[in-house]
Amino acid sequence: MRVALILCNLVVLALVYAESELPLAEPCDPEKCKLPDCRCSSVEIPGGLAPRDTPQFVLLTFDDGVNINNIETYRALIYNRKNKNSCPAGTTFFVSHEYTDYSLVNELYNQGFEIALHSISHRTDDVYWRTADYETLMKEFGDQITLTSHFANIPESEIFGIRSPFLQLSGNSSFQVVSSAGLKYDSSWPTTAFTDPGLWPYTLDYQSTQDCIVPPCPTASIPGTWVMPIVAWSDLGGLPCSFVDACFFNPGHDEEAWFQFIIKNFERHYLGNRAPFGYYVHEAFFTVNDAARRALVRFLDMINNLNDVFMVNANEVINWVQNPIPLNEYVQKDCPRRTPSACRVTSCGPLSSSHTEMQYWMRICNSCPRTYPWIGNPLGL
Ligand SMILES: *[C@@H]1O[C@H](CO)[C@@H](O)[C@H](O)[C@H]1NC(C)=O
Repeated sequence: MRVALILCNLVVLALVYAESELPLAEPCDPEKCKLPDCRCSSVEIPGGLAPRDTPQFVLLTFDDGVNINNIETYRALIYNRKNKNSCPAGTTFFVSHEYTDYSLVNELYNQGFEIALHSISHRTDDVYWRTADYETLMKEFGDQITLTSHFANIPESEIFGIRSPFLQLSGNSSFQVVSSAGLKYDSSWPTTAFTDPGLWPYTLDYQSTQDCIVPPCPTASIPGTWVMPIVAWSDLGGLPCSFVDACFFNPGHDEEAWFQFIIKNFERHYLGNRAPFGYYVHEAFFTVNDAARRALVRFLDMINNLNDVFMVNANEVINWVQNPIPLNEYVQKDCPRRTPSACRVTSCGPLSSSHTEMQYWMRICNSCPRTYPWIGNPLGL
C-alpha cells in the first residue's frame, strides 16, 4: 500500500516535471538553426534561392471523414492528375475517424496521396481543443496513427502530420505530440500577418515570430517539429480566410469569378516569394457550390501545365524545404514512389460505442473490431 502510494506520487511528480520541463524557446539565430532539421520562422526562400529558381508548390488539402459521400469528388478531381514533370500530383487528406471508411483511405493511399491526421473524436467543442493537454492529444492523434495504420492497412511510417479540429491550437501540447509520436509536422496554425510575402514552413527549435490568431500558440522549444503555416487568402472584401470555404466575401456561384479569385490569391505567392500556396477546403463545400469546384478543376488543369508549379502533398513540401534544390534540379528528380498496400474489404457492424448510444458500421481492411474504435480504445478491443 505504502509502496503503491509512493509510486503513485512519483508518477504524479514525473508528470508535473515533464510538463514544466519544456524549455522556453529563445530568439532564433540563423547561424545556429540550419537545415535540414532546423529553420527559423521566416519569409526567406529556403537555401537562399531566387524566386525564379524556386518551385512553386500548390498544396490541396481536404479535412474530415473519408467516405462514400465524398470519394467520388476525389476520384473525379485528383486521380491520375500529373504535374508538368510527369510526376503524380499530390494532395493531403487530414482524416478524422468518425464515419471514415478505411477501405477508401487505403484507396487514397494507393493512389499516392498523403494520409494525415485530424483527430479521432473531432469533438465540436473548441474549449476542449484549446485546453487539451498532452495526454488528451496523445489519445486523439498518437493513437490515431495506430488506428489508421491498422484499419486502412498503411504503414505507420507513412503518416507524418496532423491538423487540429477548427485549427484550434493548444499551446505546446499538440506539437509535443508531433514530436514524441514520431511525426513531422503540424498544419493548424494560420497567419494573416505573413501573407505577402508568405511564411515558409519552419521548426520550433527557436521562438516563432508568427502571429497567433487562435491562441494559445506554442512558446516552448520543441526541436525538429515543423510548422506548416496556413497562409491566409484574401477574400473579395480584403478579409483574410484560412479555408477557401470560409472566405466571407466570395464569388458565390460564378465559376469565372471563382477562377479569377483563385488566380489572384495564387499570384501573391507565384509572383512573390513562392511560399507554398494552400487550397484548404472541405469536400462538402463542393456539394453546395459546383461553380467553385469547376473553377478549381480549371485552376488545377492550368497549373499542371506550368513548368515551375507543382501540386504536391504537405510532407513533400517539407522534404523540399529541408533540402532546397533549385527548380532545374527539382524537375530532374525521380517521382516519389509508393509500394501498394492491399485491402481485403470487410464490413463491420453494428458496433456499439463507448461515447454514444448510437451504433456504427465501418468498412476496413482487417478483421472487425469488437466495439467502435474511439479515444482510449483505438483498436476497438
Ligand atoms: C509552453 O511551454 C513554455 C515553456 O515551458 C511555457 O512557458 C508556456 O507557458 C507553455 N504554454 C502553455 C500554453 O502551456
